[in-house]
Amino acid sequence: MFDEIIFISQLIGTQKVMLKKDGHIILIGMSGAGKSTIGKQLGLRLERSFIDTDSRIENHYKKSIQEIFQSEGESEFRKYESQLLDELKNESPGVISVGGGLPCHHQNMSRLLSMGIVIYLKVSVEELCRRLTQDQNDRPLYNGISEKKMVSHTNNLLKKRQSTYVRSDIVIDSDFSVEEILDELLSEIA
Ligand code: S3P
Repeated sequence: MFDEIIFISQLIGTQKVMLKKDGHIILIGMSGAGKSTIGKQLGLRLERSFIDTDSRIENHYKKSIQEIFQSEGESEFRKYESQLLDELKNESPGVISVGGGLPCHHQNMSRLLSMGIVIYLKVSVEELCRRLTQDQNDRPLYNGISEKKMVSHTNNLLKKRQSTYVRSDIVIDSDFSVEEILDELLSEIA
Protein backbone atom coordinates (compact mmCIF):
# COMPACT_ATOMS: atom_id res chain seq x y z
CA MET A 1 0.00 0.00 0.00
CA PHE A 2 1.02 3.62 -0.51
CA ASP A 3 3.79 2.67 -2.90
CA GLU A 4 3.25 5.43 -5.42
CA ILE A 5 4.03 8.86 -4.16
CA ILE A 6 3.27 12.22 -5.66
CA PHE A 7 4.63 15.41 -4.19
CA ILE A 8 2.13 18.17 -3.69
CA SER A 9 3.77 21.52 -3.21
CA GLN A 10 2.78 25.10 -2.70
CA LEU A 11 -0.63 24.30 -1.36
CA ILE A 12 0.27 26.61 1.42
CA GLY A 13 3.48 28.47 0.84
CA THR A 14 6.37 26.07 0.74
CA GLN A 15 4.62 23.21 2.44
CA LYS A 16 5.35 19.92 0.72
CA VAL A 17 3.29 16.89 1.37
CA MET A 18 3.35 13.40 -0.03
CA LEU A 19 0.11 12.13 -1.45
CA LYS A 20 -0.23 8.48 -0.70
CA LYS A 21 -1.98 7.65 -3.93
CA ASP A 22 -3.56 4.45 -2.76
CA GLY A 23 -5.19 6.02 0.25
CA HIS A 24 -8.34 8.10 0.62
CA ILE A 25 -8.37 11.86 0.18
CA ILE A 26 -10.07 13.08 3.34
CA LEU A 27 -11.52 16.57 3.74
CA ILE A 28 -12.02 17.90 7.24
CA GLY A 29 -13.09 21.22 8.74
CA MET A 30 -15.97 23.05 10.33
CA SER A 31 -19.55 23.01 9.07
CA GLY A 32 -19.67 25.42 6.16
CA ALA A 33 -16.06 24.82 5.13
CA GLY A 34 -17.20 23.42 1.76
CA LYS A 35 -16.10 19.81 2.37
CA SER A 36 -19.01 18.18 0.54
CA THR A 37 -19.09 20.63 -2.35
CA ILE A 38 -15.37 20.41 -2.98
CA GLY A 39 -15.26 16.69 -2.23
CA LYS A 40 -17.93 15.91 -4.84
CA GLN A 41 -16.11 17.88 -7.52
CA LEU A 42 -12.75 16.42 -6.57
CA GLY A 43 -14.20 12.91 -6.76
CA LEU A 44 -15.60 13.57 -10.24
CA ARG A 45 -12.40 15.04 -11.59
CA LEU A 46 -10.17 12.35 -10.09
CA GLU A 47 -12.65 9.61 -10.97
CA ARG A 48 -12.85 8.47 -7.40
CA SER A 49 -16.00 7.70 -5.48
CA PHE A 50 -17.24 10.44 -3.18
CA ILE A 51 -18.28 9.53 0.34
CA ASP A 52 -19.94 11.87 2.82
CA THR A 53 -19.86 10.50 6.37
CA ASP A 54 -23.11 12.21 7.39
CA SER A 55 -24.97 10.84 4.36
CA ARG A 56 -23.59 7.34 4.98
CA ILE A 57 -24.80 7.45 8.58
CA GLU A 58 -28.21 8.81 7.55
CA ASN A 59 -28.64 6.09 4.94
CA HIS A 60 -27.51 3.36 7.28
CA TYR A 61 -29.72 4.32 10.22
CA LYS A 62 -32.54 5.67 8.02
CA LYS A 63 -32.67 8.85 10.09
CA SER A 64 -31.44 12.37 9.58
CA ILE A 65 -28.46 13.56 11.64
CA GLN A 66 -30.88 15.88 13.40
CA GLU A 67 -33.11 12.92 14.36
CA ILE A 68 -30.13 10.88 15.57
CA PHE A 69 -29.01 13.75 17.81
CA GLN A 70 -32.55 14.11 19.14
CA SER A 71 -33.37 10.46 19.72
CA GLU A 72 -29.99 8.96 20.58
CA GLY A 73 -27.89 11.96 21.56
CA GLU A 74 -24.54 13.29 20.41
CA SER A 75 -22.39 10.63 22.07
CA GLU A 76 -24.20 7.85 20.22
CA PHE A 77 -23.77 9.76 16.96
CA ARG A 78 -20.01 10.00 17.68
CA LYS A 79 -19.94 6.21 18.08
CA TYR A 80 -21.63 5.80 14.70
CA GLU A 81 -19.01 8.08 13.15
CA SER A 82 -16.22 6.01 14.65
CA GLN A 83 -17.73 2.73 13.53
CA LEU A 84 -18.04 4.12 10.03
CA LEU A 85 -14.29 4.73 9.93
CA ASP A 86 -13.74 1.00 10.48
CA GLU A 87 -15.75 0.38 7.32
CA LEU A 88 -14.17 3.11 5.25
CA LYS A 89 -10.63 2.04 5.92
CA ASN A 90 -11.33 -1.18 4.03
CA GLU A 91 -12.95 0.49 1.02
CA SER A 92 -11.20 1.41 -2.21
CA PRO A 93 -9.62 4.87 -2.22
CA GLY A 94 -12.17 7.64 -2.56
CA VAL A 95 -12.68 11.25 -1.59
CA ILE A 96 -14.25 11.47 1.85
CA SER A 97 -15.99 14.49 3.34
CA VAL A 98 -16.03 14.12 7.09
CA GLY A 99 -18.54 15.65 9.56
CA GLY A 100 -17.05 18.66 11.36
CA GLY A 101 -16.72 16.98 14.75
CA LEU A 102 -15.61 13.53 13.63
CA PRO A 103 -11.82 14.10 13.83
CA CYS A 104 -12.16 15.43 17.38
CA HIS A 105 -13.66 12.34 19.02
CA HIS A 106 -12.48 8.81 19.82
CA GLN A 107 -8.94 9.47 18.53
CA ASN A 108 -10.38 9.61 15.05
CA MET A 109 -7.81 12.11 13.80
CA SER A 110 -5.00 9.57 14.16
CA ARG A 111 -7.14 7.02 12.39
CA LEU A 112 -7.91 9.41 9.53
CA LEU A 113 -4.21 10.17 9.12
CA SER A 114 -3.53 6.47 8.73
CA MET A 115 -6.22 6.13 6.05
CA GLY A 116 -4.80 8.57 3.51
CA ILE A 117 -4.16 12.26 3.02
CA VAL A 118 -6.06 14.54 5.36
CA ILE A 119 -6.80 18.02 4.06
CA TYR A 120 -8.10 20.70 6.41
CA LEU A 121 -10.26 23.27 4.65
CA LYS A 122 -9.57 26.27 6.82
CA VAL A 123 -12.17 29.02 6.68
CA SER A 124 -12.39 32.17 8.81
CA VAL A 125 -15.15 32.33 11.42
CA GLU A 126 -16.73 35.30 9.61
CA GLU A 127 -16.91 33.41 6.33
CA LEU A 128 -18.21 30.23 8.04
CA CYS A 129 -21.02 32.24 9.65
CA ARG A 130 -21.86 33.94 6.37
CA ARG A 131 -22.17 30.56 4.65
CA LEU A 132 -24.06 28.91 7.50
CA THR A 133 -26.72 31.61 7.64
CA GLN A 134 -27.36 31.12 3.92
CA ASP A 135 -27.44 27.35 4.21
CA GLN A 136 -30.79 25.80 5.04
CA ASN A 137 -29.34 22.43 6.16
CA ASP A 138 -30.24 21.38 9.68
CA ARG A 139 -27.22 21.34 11.91
CA PRO A 140 -27.89 20.08 15.43
CA LEU A 141 -24.95 21.94 16.94
CA TYR A 142 -26.43 25.19 15.64
CA ASN A 143 -29.98 24.55 16.86
CA GLY A 144 -31.34 27.54 18.73
CA ILE A 145 -28.28 29.69 18.04
CA SER A 146 -29.38 33.18 17.04
CA GLU A 147 -27.58 35.07 14.29
CA LYS A 148 -26.21 37.34 17.01
CA LYS A 149 -24.58 34.43 18.86
CA MET A 150 -23.39 32.71 15.71
CA VAL A 151 -19.89 34.22 15.69
CA SER A 152 -19.09 33.51 19.34
CA HIS A 153 -20.58 30.00 19.11
CA THR A 154 -18.51 29.18 16.02
CA ASN A 155 -15.42 30.71 17.61
CA ASN A 156 -15.83 28.52 20.69
CA LEU A 157 -16.31 25.37 18.64
CA LEU A 158 -13.32 26.17 16.47
CA LYS A 159 -11.10 26.89 19.49
CA LYS A 160 -11.81 23.40 20.80
CA ARG A 161 -11.14 21.79 17.43
CA GLN A 162 -8.33 23.77 15.91
CA SER A 163 -5.48 21.82 17.55
CA THR A 164 -6.91 18.62 16.08
CA TYR A 165 -7.60 20.05 12.63
CA VAL A 166 -4.08 21.41 12.22
CA ARG A 167 -2.61 17.93 12.54
CA SER A 168 -3.74 17.45 8.92
CA ASP A 169 -1.26 16.67 6.17
CA ILE A 170 -2.36 19.78 4.28
CA VAL A 171 -4.03 22.96 5.45
CA ILE A 172 -5.75 24.95 2.71
CA ASP A 173 -6.91 28.48 3.18
CA SER A 174 -10.46 28.06 1.95
CA ASP A 175 -12.06 31.47 2.25
CA PHE A 176 -12.10 31.53 -1.55
CA SER A 177 -14.65 30.31 -4.06
CA VAL A 178 -15.17 26.58 -4.64
CA GLU A 179 -13.65 26.88 -8.11
CA GLU A 180 -10.52 28.59 -6.82
CA ILE A 181 -9.97 26.01 -4.10
CA LEU A 182 -10.63 23.18 -6.50
CA ASP A 183 -8.27 24.58 -9.11
CA GLU A 184 -5.54 24.88 -6.53
CA LEU A 185 -6.07 21.32 -5.31
CA LEU A 186 -6.31 19.87 -8.79
CA SER A 187 -3.31 21.66 -10.17
CA GLU A 188 -1.28 19.94 -7.49
CA ILE A 189 -2.67 16.43 -7.47
CA ALA A 190 -4.13 15.70 -10.91
C1 S3P B 1 -21.12 18.35 13.13
C2 S3P B 1 -21.09 18.66 11.78
C3 S3P B 1 -22.06 18.12 10.83
C4 S3P B 1 -22.66 16.81 11.35
C5 S3P B 1 -23.18 16.97 12.72
C6 S3P B 1 -22.11 17.41 13.72
C7 S3P B 1 -20.10 18.93 14.02
O1 S3P B 1 -21.44 17.88 9.57
O2 S3P B 1 -21.71 15.78 11.33
O3 S3P B 1 -24.22 17.91 12.68
O4 S3P B 1 -19.87 18.38 15.10
O5 S3P B 1 -19.49 19.96 13.64
P1 S3P B 1 -20.91 19.04 8.60
O6 S3P B 1 -19.53 19.39 9.06
O7 S3P B 1 -20.90 18.41 7.26
O8 S3P B 1 -21.87 20.18 8.71
